[in-house]
Amino acid sequence: MNQQEVSTVDVSLGERSYSVVVGRNLFLEVDRYISSRYEKVAVITQAEIPWSLRLSVDSEVFTVPKDERAKSLRVVDEISSKLALFGLKRNHLIVALGGGVVTDLGGFVASTYYRGTDYINVATTLLGMVDAAVGGKTAVNLKQGKNLVGSFWQPKAVFCDLNTLETLPENQRRSGYGEMAKYSFLSPNTLEGLTLLDQVARCIEIKAEYVANDEREGGRRALLNYGHTLGHAVEAQGFERASDEQITHGEAVAVGIYFAGKLAFKMGRIDELRLDEHRKVLHSYGLDHRLPVWVDRDSLLEYMKRDKKSMGTLTFVLDGRDGLEVVRDVEESTVKEVLYEL
Ligand SMILES: NC(=O)c1ccc[n+]([C@@H]2O[C@H](COP(=O)([O-])OP(=O)(O)OC[C@H]3O[C@@H](n4cnc5c(N)ncnc54)[C@H](O)[C@@H]3O)[C@@H](O)[C@H]2O)c1
Repeated sequence: MNQQEVSTVDVSLGERSYSVVVGRNLFLEVDRYISSRYEKVAVITQAEIPWSLRLSVDSEVFTVPKDERAKSLRVVDEISSKLALFGLKRNHLIVALGGGVVTDLGGFVASTYYRGTDYINVATTLLGMVDAAVGGKTAVNLKQGKNLVGSFWQPKAVFCDLNTLETLPENQRRSGYGEMAKYSFLSPNTLEGLTLLDQVARCIEIKAEYVANDEREGGRRALLNYGHTLGHAVEAQGFERASDEQITHGEAVAVGIYFAGKLAFKMGRIDELRLDEHRKVLHSYGLDHRLPVWVDRDSLLEYMKRDKKSMGTLTFVLDGRDGLEVVRDVEESTVKEVLYEL
């Protein structure tokens, strides 16, 4: 393999450190990594993902539902029982092969199975590569909210094979772009003009730095949620819509990024030029900065008040002269005004 086709980013967390390998044709490398360390492997994936690993050790594939329904305690129960029947032990390995749904679920199962089993992520979506597969946040959903039950459990390695993106539906690609656009506001170095491989590796580098400095999101790591407060609210309303109207996570984050920019502008934290930069970055990724026509703005506001990071007040990650920061107690009337202007 050509050396230049691979980029490796280290996530530095002491004894929990690991590498994220970004490149093409990586599946052989995944097998080499696994077979030199583990004797038995459980691969968690989805039937709809047209990619599979050929492993030279004892392995079995376990499929889970194709959407957020996979991130449930019921599926954790089912999969864990199947792992036990397969004879998977603490010194064996779980592989999560898929997008964020699979890596969130697989990571959570790994964190509880035998009180903690090794796992690796083989990310197959752009969003998974630049975000979900890296950083060790794992979770499943409850009826009462998304990602309410979870753990911090770092993978032993992450592989991002860009070939897998060839089969990714266009809206899922845009979803990844939404998260990539976010990184443009977290780092002064632009991603413009870089190859896809370098852009993905750069996003992971930025994320790795935040994770290394604040593994359990006690402070700075929260800035990775830029655009997510409104993004989550829009995404949640989207779940109620017909499938052709649904909006992906990253597309919702894109709207949330522009909203956060406009809110910062309204609060005098940034000038018009910087706000315009928000729009331009989103458009450069082919993303819409406007709210979908079907949203109910009053419900968005209520949802944002309940955001689990808000702690009762309207809290946002906002841009400012010194970059992004968490801003608490934002006036409800200002938020409402911006929502209705959007
Ligand atoms: N843990 C974290 O830090 C973190 C960060 C961001 C998002 N997330 C979570 O990630 C999830 C979203 O992940 P996602 O955007 O990757 O979506 P996803 O995992 O739901 O995948 C999107 C769809 O694409 C399909 N798919 C996956 N790879 C494919 C491929 N290569 N070719 C064709 N189809 C493919 C999947 O089956 C699915 O239907 C959410 O649950 C979110 O909460 C977690």
